[in-house]
Amino acid sequence: MFRALDGGGAKQSIDVDGRRVQVRAGIPLAIALLEAGVIPFRKTPVSGEPRAPVCLMGVCFECRVAVDGRSGVQACMIEVADGMSVRISSGDALAGDDADV
Ligand code: FES
Repeated sequence: MFRALDGGGAKQSIDVDGRRVQVRAGIPLAIALLEAGVIPFRKTPVSGEPRAPVCLMGVCFECRVAVDGRSGVQACMIEVADGMSVRISSGDALAGDDADV
């Protein structure tokens, strides 16, 4: 579904739920996770419905993950960083989850 146009460049290592993942440097975290096949990004706290990025520009809030212990981070709005620790929600509430949408 998502494929890098250049396919190369520097790599960085991030931790996703305890799994070491190599990603391209300098790209948004959401893109890095999608390229790594990480989907869904979270599940809603009430119904457990899977969610994944929709807009990739900070509008839909469907890309929220926990980054370095901070929950509710919009993955499309931050750049991936070497050593970053990402936690994908498994149904627990994230900061900013005020509705089961
Ligand atoms: S993908 Fe829509 S806010 Fe991040």
